[in-house]
Amino acid sequence: MSMRRSVVVGCGHFLPETILTNAELAKRVDTSDEWIVERTGIRERRIAGEGETTSVLATKAAQAAIADAGLVPDDIDLIVLATATPDYTFPSTATQVQAALGIRHGAAFDLQAVCSGFVYALATADNFLRAGSHKRALVIGAETFSRILDWTDRTTCVLFGDGAGALVLEAREGEGTIADRGVLSSHLRSDGRHFDKLYVDGGPSATMTTGHLRMEGKEVFRHAVTNLADIIEEAFRATGLNADDIDLFVPHQANRRIIEATARKLNIDPGKVVVTVEKHGNTSAASIPLAIASAYGEGRIKQGDLVLLEAMGGGFTWGSALIRW
Ligand code: UT7
Repeated sequence: MSMRRSVVVGCGHFLPETILTNAELAKRVDTSDEWIVERTGIRERRIAGEGETTSVLATKAAQAAIADAGLVPDDIDLIVLATATPDYTFPSTATQVQAALGIRHGAAFDLQAVCSGFVYALATADNFLRAGSHKRALVIGAETFSRILDWTDRTTCVLFGDGAGALVLEAREGEGTIADRGVLSSHLRSDGRHFDKLYVDGGPSATMTTGHLRMEGKEVFRHAVTNLADIIEEAFRATGLNADDIDLFVPHQANRRIIEATARKLNIDPGKVVVTVEKHGNTSAASIPLAIASAYGEGRIKQGDLVLLEAMGGGFTWGSALIRW
């Protein structure tokens, strides 16, 4: 039976030029390159410059993705932008990207699921395209976490970075089988009881301030591998696919130890795992599209490949998606 699918037709990214190394961080807070590398795998991260707001990074990633798809901005009729660091409280960063791209039709909105934002945005855009209301979607993950870090708190400021990545999805008819190109499954979860394990201590309604990121890292770590393995197993059950079918595993890039433990738990071959946390740090909603773009740039993704995505973040929120490239 024929079935509408959201097929990835373009991929792009943008990273700010400024690199902040662990050695430079060790001059600001009581930390060391050795501790950061051993506990997280992170060696450096990018930091957005003055004027490089989330919408600026997002627009550049979007332009790269549209060009990669061989399209022009007017071909896009939906923008779903995942971010926890919008330029302004409102209007949405997505509408600023829409304006910067010169698009005057369709719809653009932000989506907030912190580090799971890209998986949530992908699932949302996929549902719009499969419902038939829109034809081509830009799914963007973009963040400037450097703006909400407490640069005196060594337990968080060494972990995060800035960047943006984007995919273009196009609605196409498939056969309705797992051999189809496109998003084959998405599974999303949340559990709001865990608010205080990873949050920002400010916001327009609660404090009328922007606030800073606060995290109980060990607690987040404790839940991460179990939640991520569960949501991936759910994707396998729903599609009948398994770890051996996966060509590329693109996890959220928070910590190399979480990535490796999740891959081990699911018996995913280490050679199939994309790891960019070393160079990007944790870029929250941008981490998955940045990792996809990195693998794509290295020629690690071919048409027909099965790509598995997963993420977990504040809320807690978590999710997985299977894409036939
Ligand atoms: O993207 C959203 C999801 N976020 C995550 O997935 C993050 C999950 N959590 C983690 O990745 C890890 O828990 C961290 C990397 C945040 C921390 O690693 P850990 O192995 O859980 O370390 P810890 O928090 O238990 O800290 C161990 C020690 C502590 O010292 P004491 O109490 O043992 O004396 C910390 O004070 O390391 C100390 N520490 C540091 N030392 C040097 C904490 N941060 C640093 C630092 N440099 N930057």
